[in-house]
This record gives sequence, C-alpha cells and structure tokens, in this order.
Amino acid sequence: MNIIWTGLLLLASLLACTAVTAAEAPPPALDCQNGHWSLRVDGKPFLILGGQVHNSTTADAERLDRACTTLARSGANTAFVPISWELLEPAAGQYDFALVDRAVQDARKHHLRLVLLWFGGWKNGAMHYAPEWVKRDKTTYPRVIDARGGELPTLSPLSEATRRADAAAFRAMMTHLREIDGADHTVLLVQVENEAGYLGADRDYSPAATQRFEGPVPSELTAYLDAHRAALSAPLARAWGESGNRLSGTWTEVFGDMAAEACTGWDVARYVDAVTVAGKEAWPLPMYANAWLAVGNGERAGVWPSGGPNENMIDLWKCAAPHLDFLAPDIYQSRFADICAAYARPDNPLFIPEVSFDPYYPAFAFTAFAGCNSLAFSPFGIDEEGDEPSPAAVQWTRVYGVLRPLLPLIAERQHSGTLFPFAQNLFEEGETTLSIQLGEQLAAVITYTVKFDALKQRGAGMIVRLARDEYLVAGMGFNAVLRELQGPPRDAEILSLDEGTYDEGAWKTQHRLNGDELQLSLPETGRILRVKLLR
Ligand code: DGJ
Repeated sequence: MNIIWTGLLLLASLLACTAVTAAEAPPPALDCQNGHWSLRVDGKPFLILGGQVHNSTTADAERLDRACTTLARSGANTAFVPISWELLEPAAGQYDFALVDRAVQDARKHHLRLVLLWFGGWKNGAMHYAPEWVKRDKTTYPRVIDARGGELPTLSPLSEATRRADAAAFRAMMTHLREIDGADHTVLLVQVENEAGYLGADRDYSPAATQRFEGPVPSELTAYLDAHRAALSAPLARAWGESGNRLSGTWTEVFGDMAAEACTGWDVARYVDAVTVAGKEAWPLPMYANAWLAVGNGERAGVWPSGGPNENMIDLWKCAAPHLDFLAPDIYQSRFADICAAYARPDNPLFIPEVSFDPYYPAFAFTAFAGCNSLAFSPFGIDEEGDEPSPAAVQWTRVYGVLRPLLPLIAERQHSGTLFPFAQNLFEEGETTLSIQLGEQLAAVITYTVKFDALKQRGAGMIVRLARDEYLVAGMGFNAVLRELQGPPRDAEILSLDEGTYDEGAWKTQHRLNGDELQLSLPETGRILRVKLLR
C-alpha cells in the first residue's frame, strides 16, 4: 500500500511540476520574420522605452533607487544598468554579486525591466572597469601599444589570459542571474562590454600585433565579404572596393585605408564573441555590443575606439562575432536617420541603447520607434541630481508620457506602413512646413506651435492610421489638419474627436471634444487624440 501511495504522490508532484513548467513564459528572445525584428517578452512583442543610469550609480544603493524612481515616474519601462567587473570580482576568482542583486531587486520594486551592461575588459575604448588585480599585472594582462610605443589604458584582446578572465567573470554573472531571474525575466538583454575598441590608436603597434597586421586576412573574413558583397555597409564596401575587392592578401592589400581598423576590429570582435559565448552557456539571454560611432571630417580610427562595432565595422563584426545577437549604435550625433538606417538591417535589428540626454533628442523617440522600427530607445544619464528637473528631463517625461501607452500598438504596427512620425527642425514653426501623405486619399498638414529650441524643446509626434476613416494623432507642440487628396480641395470632415489613452492595448476615451475644441491641437505638454472621419 505504502509503495502505491508513494508512487501516486510522486506522479502527482511530477504532474504539478510539468504544469508549472508548461505555464512558465519563455525567456526573452529576439524574433525575425521576413527581415522584421521583434523582441519577445513573455511571448509578446515588447518595445523598450528606457533610460540608462550614470556609470557609477549601481555602486550606490540609494542613488540606484532614486534613479529607478525617476525612470518609473518618467514613463520608462526599462532601466539600463551597468555591472562592473572590478566590483563583481574584487579578487581573482572571488565573486560578489551584490550589484546584480541590487539592480534586479530595485527594478522589480519599481516595476521596471532591466538591460544589464557588462563593463568588463572594455569601457569606452579603454579598460577602466577591469579589477585592480588585472590592471596591476601587465605581464599576464598586457596593454595595447600605440604608434609611439606607449601603453594605452586598453587591454590587448590578443591575450588569452585576459579573454579567459573576462569570460569567466561574465559567465559567473550570467550563472547567478539565471539563479535569481531565470523564472521572472526582469533582465531582458545583456550588453557585452561597453564601446569596445582602441581609443588612441588605430591598431596595436606591439611587435606581435604588427606581425599579425602584416600577415594575411583570415580567409573566413574574405569569404564572408564575398558572400555578402551586395549588402555591405557603405564605408566598408568603399574601402574594400577601392582595393579591388581582393579575396586574399594582407590587411593593407584587402582593406586599403581601413586596414588598421579592420585588423583591430577582427581581434576585438573575436574577443567579445568569446566572452558572449561564455555568458550564453550560462544563461542564453539576447546579447549585443554597443558602438561609439565614427566621426567624419578626416578624423581617423583611434579618435573613436578603433575596431568597435561602428558603421565601418558592422559586417566584419557579423563575421567575427556570430554569437552576438546584434550591434547597437550609441547616438550622440544629429545625423539620426542615417545612423538608424545603417544599423536597421535584415541581419541586425535597430536597438538604441544610448542617446544623448539633451533636450534635442527626445523627439527622436517617435522617429526611432515609428519610422525606423527600433526595438529600444534610451537616453544616457537619466539620473541627474538637483532639486528641479532640467529642461531635458521635462522634455523626456513629456515624450515618454505620450509614448508609453502607445507601445503595444506601435509594436504591433512596426513595418506595416501605418505609422507616420515627425520631429521639428530648425526654422519650422508657426507656418505650414510639413505635409505627410497618410494614404492615397489623405494627407496631414502639420504646423508647429512651439518655438524650436535645441536647448529646451521641439515639437514632435506621430500619426497612426487605424483604419481608412480612423486615425490617432499623438505628440506635442503642433496642430494638424487632415486634407482630402481626391475630389475638390478640402479638409476631411471630422465625425468625432476624442482625447484619451491606451490601457493594456485598449483605447480609453477621457474626453469627447467638439465645438470650439474640434481641432487636432497638441499642446507642448503632450496629448493623444483619436479622430474618426466622415468619408
Ligand atoms: C558613452 C558610454 O557608453 C557611456 O557609458 C557614457 O560614458 C557616455 N558615453 C557619456 O557621454
């Protein structure tokens, strides 16, 4: 009898376990259907409206809590939080996961998701977050040598010992993360290193590295370029093309004036890939590398971290670091659309882990999500200190206030041709400056009502075509008029106009507008309108 009972109990508990497992949501993952990327969280598409805390914030519990409070209040849904190697492994092989625990607990307390940033061997083209025991031991963990023979504060990616140490620490962090977050999925993605590359030199000038530079380009890389020649990034295609699209030779023979950066890129990407593999073996969350972007004006690699995943190097990283899910631009330049276009590719989703916090940038959130199909948008340094919020903070909060309820709708409609974003430029104010065709029969004429001020605010928003006769108009600082494009020139007739919001994807009317208020008027504080047309 006892044996039968024990057997039945065992069976029942096994069935219960199976039921729990089956009900558990899958871990966060990227999905790509016909070149259209999405981030799936708990089985649904998710857009990250984020904010990145300052570099040292995680080390201070109170500061991190304040930062998460600010973020949650602004309408953001995700915090980007660094975890530094120096604090995670203060002595070789001895791990302290306090920072990871703190970040996860704080995010949960404020109902935020997390992107963890692994500040390991690399931070901004240097190694400032490596532990002291790594920094002191230059024999085991050698530095990159610049063109004058001086040591850079950058660890050489050619060192097997450095790579193994960085990868082991990252693996330990991911193992711990799986233990504390494997079921909850507070952490959605992990950034591997930060703005990798060599700051201060285009390549390593040590004798061993110079010998490699003078040797042949790996055939794996030239085969990759050959197979992807129609889709290469413009700068790399130019450099390779000017050298005759050679499929073998030294770095200089194959890449011409981009040779030094290409050789560096190969070594850096290989290193980051190895660290990624170690982390994924422990907990296979989506992982990416972020780029300090190249600048033009005749500057050379080394002014930006040479060999990082910038626009010159995207294809080379795709070949050398296949375990990374994507490469992501940190945007502190005004050529926003060009940068987005370079990173939004069938083999790479657009994901913006950092944009400048300046008041000029929040408007780009509409462009990023609704125009460029970005999966994430996140200003750097949201945790400013001070009694009064800065003009930038005010602007971010207004934009996020409008966008947050719209995220599920935007996620569903990216790539559909029904989203029409816009953002005010210099000289666009008070007069009709923008006409957007919303379909064959309708256009929106946008007139900005705020003064363009790069240091304070600018108008911005988006229109969503919900149906042939139904539109959403959202944003701040503009008036819109809908114009019929067929028949006699005229404004479209408004059947009804509501101010409202979305709650869990369902429209909630807050205010029916009519009479004097029957206008698509969006104040500088932000608003969402839903308009039905009589057509
Ligand atoms: C880009 C880096 O990735 C961030 O960690 C931070 O240092 C910012 N630059 C500062 O502007």
